[in-house]
Amino acid sequence: MSEVTWHVAGNLSQIAEGKMIGVELGGRAVVICRTKEGVNALDNVCSHAYALMHEGRLRGNRLICPLHGASFDCRTGAVLGAPATSPLATFAVRVGDDGTIEVGLPN
Ligand code: FES
Repeated sequence: MSEVTWHVAGNLSQIAEGKMIGVELGGRAVVICRTKEGVNALDNVCSHAYALMHEGRLRGNRLICPLHGASFDCRTGAVLGAPATSPLATFAVRVGDDGTIEVGLPN
């Protein structure tokens, strides 16, 4: 049995570079970030209080919460700026030849 289940999250054509979308996958809120470097998927709920990260901003690899401004590295989920102290969970991503974005959620 595999460790993750792959969920279709959208297509590259829906997300311009430097943008993000919020999706619901397997009952979980996930933010898909597209940067110059590629596509990343993280927990869409801020680890500080309750805010949806896709409503914030993406500056390079820095994902910024819309509520109190905490920031995270979208590649690793690591905290880059207060007030958050816990990282965001990150999920595996694969992009198909046709641009389909899939996210691997832990089983
Ligand atoms: S809810 Fe994100 S920084 Fe407070």
